[in-house]
Amino acid sequence: MVDNLDTDTIQRLKIEVAQAALKYVRPDTVLGVGSGSTVNAFIDALTAAQIPLKGAVAASLESERRLKSAGIEVLDFNWVDSLDIYIDGADETTDFLCLTKGGGAALTREKILATAARQFICMVDIRKRVNRLGAFPIPVEVIPFARSYVARKLIGLGGQPTWRQGVFTDNGNVILDVKGLDIVDPFALESAIEALPGVVCCGIFAKRRADIALISSEKGIDTLLAQPILK
Ligand code: 5RP
Repeated sequence: MVDNLDTDTIQRLKIEVAQAALKYVRPDTVLGVGSGSTVNAFIDALTAAQIPLKGAVAASLESERRLKSAGIEVLDFNWVDSLDIYIDGADETTDFLCLTKGGGAALTREKILATAARQFICMVDIRKRVNRLGAFPIPVEVIPFARSYVARKLIGLGGQPTWRQGVFTDNGNVILDVKGLDIVDPFALESAIEALPGVVCCGIFAKRRADIALISSEKGIDTLLAQPILK
């Protein structure tokens, strides 16, 4: 993990990885678009590239607003029967392309689109490449009614949840950020958290990890392909 990059360098790395993702966008397809600052850089690159699309489906209201103001048609996901590619950022990635997502509170729609898409391309800068998930607290989207109950259950799983006060997701729910989890098996933990009544979505993306991770650094772009995980 690299954490000594200055703000300008980080922004440049986001722009470079967003540019690199453009080559996966094929004309006349429906594109799934995630959310966050790297995705904002991607929307800028997409706008400049003028690739003709059938349309885009957005994982957040903010991405929807940005796509529309760039003149890109935004489709209602309920009317889209197949999604070719989903492009998004992440808060952490392992080399097996298991991710932490949800820093921007859009994890549920992101997981739906990533799972629906044939191919999931993840764009990160080198600060986010980790050996094991968990340094970034795991966001969990929870129905407000169940916030305290779910928090107690997350403590039971070994975590220290903090309520992201004042934040409501696009679905009207709240976020608990969970520190201290020992994520040896991201699949098992994702399943255990998502099995808790009241949990809408866990920010671990292991059951639907990325197919390709593009990782920008001062040395250029590294392209990692998902490898089989042997258990
Ligand atoms: C939003 C996300 C984002 O992809 C993640 O937080 C990374 O954001 P950024 O590109 O701003 O660092 O999961 O819910």
